[in-house]
Amino acid sequence: MLKAYVRDDYDAAAAGWEPHMGPYFRVPAERLVADLAPRAGDRCLDLACGTGLIARAFARRVGPDGVSACDLAPAQVREARRVLDAAGCSAIDVRVMDAERLGYAPGSFERVGCGFGFNHFPRPLRALRGVFRVLSPGGVAGFTAWGSFAPSIRERFDERLLELVPSIGEHASCETAFARLAHRNGQPARIAECMARAGFVELRHREHAFAADYLGAPTFVDAMLARAERDVREAGLDAVQRAELRRTLVADLASFPRRAFVVRRTFHVVLGRRPVSEARDVGD
Ligand SMILES: C[S@@+](CC[C@H](N)C(=O)[O-])C[C@H]1O[C@@H](n2cnc3c(N)ncnc32)[C@H](O)[C@@H]1O
Repeated sequence: MLKAYVRDDYDAAAAGWEPHMGPYFRVPAERLVADLAPRAGDRCLDLACGTGLIARAFARRVGPDGVSACDLAPAQVREARRVLDAAGCSAIDVRVMDAERLGYAPGSFERVGCGFGFNHFPRPLRALRGVFRVLSPGGVAGFTAWGSFAPSIRERFDERLLELVPSIGEHASCETAFARLAHRNGQPARIAECMARAGFVELRHREHAFAADYLGAPTFVDAMLARAERDVREAGLDAVQRAELRRTLVADLASFPRRAFVVRRTFHVVLGRRPVSEARDVGD
């Protein structure tokens, strides 16, 4: 049930993801790929790819031919296909696939990058054992997870949206389960622990700071509404009510100073290598 909730949530957000959320996720995607340091000729997988920001960062380093991408949400995959084609990356293979049931042949990749996906996997060890299997011996996998962030207009937006569209609260039980899972699996120590249990070695962890500049109230509200599209859609708002909701939210946040729209936070990159030779059992 949780997985269906996650899938539907990201499906609904797919159309607005690239224009509105892309700027927020681009820096961590570039950082993850830089830390994974793929070499020419490496085959690379963007796991839980969304619209394929990491796939594109891989392609800039190794060319699109060697890059694959997959995601649980079909609408995200369709959007990734559209964006990748427009970026001249038609050679990148994109598929609908559950990270906990990877369908690639053993040893298919030298690098696997997963941006903010681990926190959504109900059975993360199963996902990691799959990643371990599809990596070639000596291959490296990397996962990002959000770190701290200073209190910001994001909380104010969430509170106001809930006041204006109270039916959003009806998803509370799923939201709570989702948030609990994200909190537990979003911890870098948890990712590292699961990676070690799956057989990864040379575990490394880095925390990076970044600032996402939303420029002002209208662009910030558009980004947040794109992320909340599922809730807004399920609340049954028509076009006029949507426009009114946007206007109210923009007016509410307009009094915040320019600097409030620069959201500062950190993210973690956790890396591990599949040993070149292993004498251990990594079965379930
Ligand atoms: C926060 S988004 C990040 C997207 C992209 N990696 C990026 O950094 O822009 C998380 C993505 O994980 C995907 N996802 C969640 N659970 C998944 C699963 N079990 N298997 C594959 N993808 C999953 C979602 O559909 C969503 O696209």
